[in-house]
Amino acid sequence: MAEISISHLQALKEKGEKIATLTSYDASFTQIAEKAGIEMLLVGDSLGMVIQGNDSTLPVTIDDMIYHSRCVNRARKKALLVVDMPFMSYTSAEHALDNAGRLMKEGGAHMIKLEGGANQLDKVRLLVENAVPVCGHLGLQPQSYYQLGGYKVQGKTTNQAQEIKADALALEQAGIQLLVLECIPADLGREISLALKIPVIGIGAGAGCDGQILVLHDLLGMAENPARFVVDFLVGTGSIEQAMRAYIDAVKKGDYPAMEQTFA
Ligand code: KIV
Repeated sequence: MAEISISHLQALKEKGEKIATLTSYDASFTQIAEKAGIEMLLVGDSLGMVIQGNDSTLPVTIDDMIYHSRCVNRARKKALLVVDMPFMSYTSAEHALDNAGRLMKEGGAHMIKLEGGANQLDKVRLLVENAVPVCGHLGLQPQSYYQLGGYKVQGKTTNQAQEIKADALALEQAGIQLLVLECIPADLGREISLALKIPVIGIGAGAGCDGQILVLHDLLGMAENPARFVVDFLVGTGSIEQAMRAYIDAVKKGDYPAMEQTFA
């Protein structure tokens, strides 16, 4: 099979087939994820926590992202490669364009991801005008950790839910081609996935999303205090590749996330 493009993920949404995606930060795990058949890899700024040992994603730099993206890209064969824009790397549209350009030219990214809604529309438009594919990220936005006062489920009140949905529609209108929804009630995840034409990938956003993403270390049961939506897929599977296959299979069958892994 040829490399997986965003059009392939779009076609999966249109067919109603769930999309299985994972974070990766190095060549060895990427090689295994490729063998397991992962469709998209995100070099997430979660690397600030799971690789670098920080308390949040905030210290991660654009050079860190380029370094890890290169490592992943060396072992990548087919998966679409999405790379996070780290905290303070997109403070204006021009700043976003410079750094997204570096992620693509130096890091090999196929698409960049940035957090935020209405506040990011000018950046998304300039990136898209310059042929940079963009993935949005709404719901819990880890780069706003201190503003939010912690990692909390978002969109629980009617007003918050309406704001997230309005942001999702505005981002799609501005040209994003993929959206990540993090830690929101499952009903809202489903509603937004149905309202948008582009694929919506959930993490703690319920089974109604078009696909799922998990942080690699969470899938392998390495989290000290796992979030509600985390499942240790290594248990009972015996190898990292089998754990990844079990995750992909569970996503494709709609078995993951189950009710007990979703927020109301
Ligand atoms: O940085 C990351 O790993 C992410 C995922 C949680 C979606 O943004």
